[in-house]
Amino acid sequence: MSSSSNKSPVWGTRLGFYLAAVGSAFGLGNLWRFPYVAAENGGGAFVLLYLASAFLIGLPFLIGELLLGKLSRSSLFPATLKMIGERHIVRSLTKSSDSLSRVEKSSYKSLAWASMILNLLVLSYYAVISGWVLHFLIRIFLGFVGISVFNGPESLSVLMNNGWLQILLTGLHLIVIGVIVGKDLEHGLERWVGYAMPVFALLLGLMVYKSLSLDSAAEALRFLIYPDFSKLSISSPAQAIGHVFFTLSIGFGTMVTFGSYLRDESYLPLAGLRVATLDSVISVLAGIVIFPLILMGDQKVIGPDLFFKTVPELFGSMSGGLLFGVGFFLCLYLASLGASIGLLETLVANLRETRRVPRRISAIGVTSFCLLVALLPALSSNLLSFVRIGKVGLLGLWDMILINWALPLVALFISQMVCWKLRQELVSKEFEQTESGSSALLYSHWLFVMRFVATPLIVIALALQAWALFS
Ligand code: PFF
Repeated sequence: MSSSSNKSPVWGTRLGFYLAAVGSAFGLGNLWRFPYVAAENGGGAFVLLYLASAFLIGLPFLIGELLLGKLSRSSLFPATLKMIGERHIVRSLTKSSDSLSRVEKSSYKSLAWASMILNLLVLSYYAVISGWVLHFLIRIFLGFVGISVFNGPESLSVLMNNGWLQILLTGLHLIVIGVIVGKDLEHGLERWVGYAMPVFALLLGLMVYKSLSLDSAAEALRFLIYPDFSKLSISSPAQAIGHVFFTLSIGFGTMVTFGSYLRDESYLPLAGLRVATLDSVISVLAGIVIFPLILMGDQKVIGPDLFFKTVPELFGSMSGGLLFGVGFFLCLYLASLGASIGLLETLVANLRETRRVPRRISAIGVTSFCLLVALLPALSSNLLSFVRIGKVGLLGLWDMILINWALPLVALFISQMVCWKLRQELVSKEFEQTESGSSALLYSHWLFVMRFVATPLIVIALALQAWALFS
C-alpha cells in the first residue's frame, strides 16, 4: 500500500483515483434506475433537468466532498469529529472549533451518522439488485452455452417468488466485494477497477453499437432527446437532484473517503469536473443502450421492474440476443461491483479510522450486517409483498425514501459544513494549485454556487416534493 507522509493510504496512481471514482459513480443507477425514473418523468425533459442538476449542483457538491476528504485526510465521520474538535489534528480545519455551538456540533455528528446509515441501507438494497443481475447473467450464460433454455419472464418469476434465492445471490455479491475491499487499497480496490473498467468500457461501446442498430433506435433517441416539459411533475426536480447525488455517489461519504486518498498535488476542481463529465456521458450512453431495448418490448411497465421485465425478455427473442445479453449483464454486473465496492470502502474506511478496526475485520463485519439488513428488500417481492403504499412496494419505498429524501438532505449537510464551516483559506488554496490566473475567480464562483444557487435549489425542490406528497 502506498502511504503519504501522515501514513494514511493514498492512491498508487492518479489513474487509480479516476477509475475508482468513475467506477463508483457509474453503476446500477445509470443503467437500471435512470431509465425508469426518466420514463416516469416523461423522458427528454427529465434528461435535461438531470444534466443541468449534474453540473449546477452535483459538480460543486462533488468538489466539496473531495475537498473535505483531502483537507482532513479522513473519511466523513472522523473528518466531522476533527471539525467539531473531538479529534486532535495538526492544523485546524475550522477557524476555531469553539466557534461552533453545542447544537451545531451535535447535529453535525448526528448527520455524519445519518450518512453512514444511509450508506449501509443503500448498500444492502444495492446488493439485492446486484444479485438480480447475477441471476440473469448466469441464466443467460447457461442459455448461451446451451445448458438450458433461457426464458426472460420465467427467470424473473423464479427470482421474484424465491426470497431465499435472492438472499443467496445477495450474499454471493457481498462476499465478492468483501474480499476485494478486505485487501489494502492498492491491491484491492485500485487493482480491481484497473482490470474491470477497460472491459466495461469496451462492452458499453459494443452495447451502444448494437442498440443503435435496433429498429426502435430512432424512437428511443427521440424519447431521450426531445424535451416535453409538460410531462414533468412537481416532484421531478427533487427526483433529478436525488438521482444526481445517487449517481455521482454524493452524500454517502464516498467522495470524502476517495478525496482523503488523493495526493497533495491533486487538483480537485479538475478531478471533480472529469468525474462528473464522464459519469454524465456514460449515463447518456446507458440511456442510448437501454431505451431502444425497452421500447422494443410491448410491456409498458414503470418502476424498478421496468428493466428486468422488458430487457431480458428481448434477449430471449431477438437474433443473437443471448450473446448480446451475456455482454450486457456482464457489463451491468461489473458496473454494480464498482459501485458496491465504493459504498463498502467508505464504511470500512470510516470504521478503520474511527475505531481502528482492521480493514479485513471491518469488511467482514459490514458485509455480514448488510446481509441481515438486505433480508427486507430481498423478501419484498415475496414474503413481504403485502407491505405497500398504493402501488409502491417495499423496494420502491426503500428507494424513494433513501434517494429522493434522505440523500439530498444528507448531501446538503455535508456541503454546509464545507462551504460555511471549513476554514476558507484552506479551501481557496485547493483552487489555486494551477498556473492559470483564473483560480481565484474559480473559487469565488464555486463558493457562490454552493451557498446561493445549489443550496436554495435543493431546498425548493424538496419543498415542492413535500407539497406534491401532501396535496
Ligand atoms: N453511483 C452509483 C450508481 O449510480 O449506481 C451508486 C453509488 C455507488 C452510490 C457508490 C454511492 C456510492 F458510494
